[in-house]
Amino acid sequence: TAPILRSLAELRAKTTTWHRNGETIGVVPTMGALHEGHLSLAQAAKQGCDRVIVTIFVNPKQFNNPEDLANYPRTEHEDAQKLAPYGVDAIYVPDPQEIYPEGFSTTVSVAGLTDVMEGPFRPGHFEGVATVVAKLFLQTQADRAYFGEKDYQQLLVVRRMARDLNIPIEVIGCPTVREPSGLAMSSRNLLLSPQGLKIAEQMNGVMRQVADDLAKGADFAMLAQDAKETLLKVGFTEVEYIDLRCAETLESLSSATQPARLFVTAWADGVRLIDNIPVNPA
Ligand code: PAJ
Repeated sequence: TAPILRSLAELRAKTTTWHRNGETIGVVPTMGALHEGHLSLAQAAKQGCDRVIVTIFVNPKQFNNPEDLANYPRTEHEDAQKLAPYGVDAIYVPDPQEIYPEGFSTTVSVAGLTDVMEGPFRPGHFEGVATVVAKLFLQTQADRAYFGEKDYQQLLVVRRMARDLNIPIEVIGCPTVREPSGLAMSSRNLLLSPQGLKIAEQMNGVMRQVADDLAKGADFAMLAQDAKETLLKVGFTEVEYIDLRCAETLESLSSATQPARLFVTAWADGVRLIDNIPVNPA
């Protein structure tokens, strides 16, 4: 398995040597509890870069409630085992003081993109993400970073942050890895009961139907209302939002007039599930 590095000094020793040898570095930021979605990012990174660093850090600043943070799975040993076949060069599991030393007082905040969807539902979340990812980019000095489209808004926020701050890194989005049912892989899926899982498995099919109708030129308002009713009928307890948005700016759209994404967040069995899919312009 790849060496686990816990200090910035150990990390820098590696990255400095790699860059001096003219090697490119890819980084895959994670919070651990790795599943096939994360592993697909490691694989993409290995394909695109000479050296790959996977980071594992459960970032307290991006959690809205302390319980969620306390209950977040920590499975470092299993994570390292799962990464073994992917030829990862280092696993950076920073000691907390390497990220937030005593007296840490800087916040990175990305306006606009964070005003919609997950932003209002999770106050402070994207600031926590942008702050930790800025640090991880600067600490790893990576040339490319790999993020999942599963968290599409996060992907755009991180890309904008790097651009705005002139951090010289290319942010690459990778497709969502799904179960055969279409359910997007997520560590939260493990919290679902067998009945809850049956409900969750319906989400992607409903979304694909909406995307198909949009690609035929249909208006979004009615489709969204129908989809919401369908989701509630199959057992979702609440639909937080169903949005059609520009794939680049996240501006709201009333039909698929340009490359768009369909976003859904809904609750099943006490678990908050999020998903999004591309919609081709009609
Ligand atoms: P985490 O939830 O561990 O996710 C790490 C990366 O894996 C993110 O880029 C996420 O989009 C991607 N990912 C999750 N499920 C996926 C799936 N089914 N298919 C493809 N990619 C998937 O996202 C975070 O951690 C944190 O916010 C982080 C960026 C590490 C900052 O703390």
